[in-house]
Amino acid sequence: MASRKNLLVDRTALAHKVRYALTHPQRVPRHLKRAGRDRWLAFKHRDHVSYYRAVMASDTRRNPEAAVGSPTHEEWLRLGELQFDYLRAHGLRPGHRMLDIGCGNLRAGWRFIEYLEPGHYYGIDISPDVLVAAKRTLATRGLQAKLPHLTLTQDLTLDFLPDAYFDVVHAHSVFSHSPIEIIDECLAHVGRVLAPGGFFDFTFDRTLGTEHQVLREDFYYRTETLTALGHRHGLRARFMDDWELLGHGQSKIRVTAGPARSSRAAAPAASGRTGELSP
Ligand SMILES: C[S@@+](CC[C@H](N)C(=O)[O-])C[C@H]1O[C@@H](n2cnc3c(N)ncnc32)[C@H](O)[C@@H]1O
Repeated sequence: MASRKNLLVDRTALAHKVRYALTHPQRVPRHLKRAGRDRWLAFKHRDHVSYYRAVMASDTRRNPEAAVGSPTHEEWLRLGELQFDYLRAHGLRPGHRMLDIGCGNLRAGWRFIEYLEPGHYYGIDISPDVLVAAKRTLATRGLQAKLPHLTLTQDLTLDFLPDAYFDVVHAHSVFSHSPIEIIDECLAHVGRVLAPGGFFDFTFDRTLGTEHQVLREDFYYRTETLTALGHRHGLRARFMDDWELLGHGQSKIRVTAGPARSSRAAAPAASGRTGELSP
């Protein structure tokens, strides 16, 4: 399926807003309600993490599956499967260790947990409400014996995690809700926790035009901005063309430890891991 992205539009432009309202009049009341709520939450919570945590609390109260972006259960299942199948096709093996940044209510996480060896899945999120929903997903799927790690976080310094540990780090639909400072923080620290040969995949809302954000909820970046940020932190970064073929609204970048970090390739591999990843 070809991708259906609108890569040139600036959603903050008045002309776009008017055109959108005229072509989708039924969506206007919902958008105004959301805009009102977001203004109020932004007023109460000045830093982005606190603000977005409040957005997630409000959305999760209504419906945890919709809060992570899936309006129906079928869509929730499909989006999880899409993420899982993609990483499987890129070499994920049961013995690998995975860090899922912004794991949400385990839309994809439960599939990774089921597949990986016990204790090999680490999910972190800024939202306590969504982590409670994640525990519910875990229980519903009967995955208690897999003992995943689910941790609340305030930042993306990853300071509580060990060096050279994760074969796969993953952030689906997280940077699409993140200002550049948060992405920068993550890219500054992710290289430390990547195991030799490991990679970090993240999706983002892509624009070919002016970078912009809507209601501090949705952020649109140019690919070059994010790959350059990776390079600045000594990481290689590449745009994943095969992800585009899957028809998802966001694009994907993969970062790996770059030449500046190649000396870490000599570090001992974490035990029990088998199979090669295909960065
Ligand atoms: C759209 S949901 C996607 C959840 C999950 N990755 C999935 O695909 O189902 C975004 C998730 O990222 C979390 N999040 C947003 N900003 C974050 C940050 N800076 N650090 C960690 N988690 C974050 C949100 O709380 C939310 O659970």
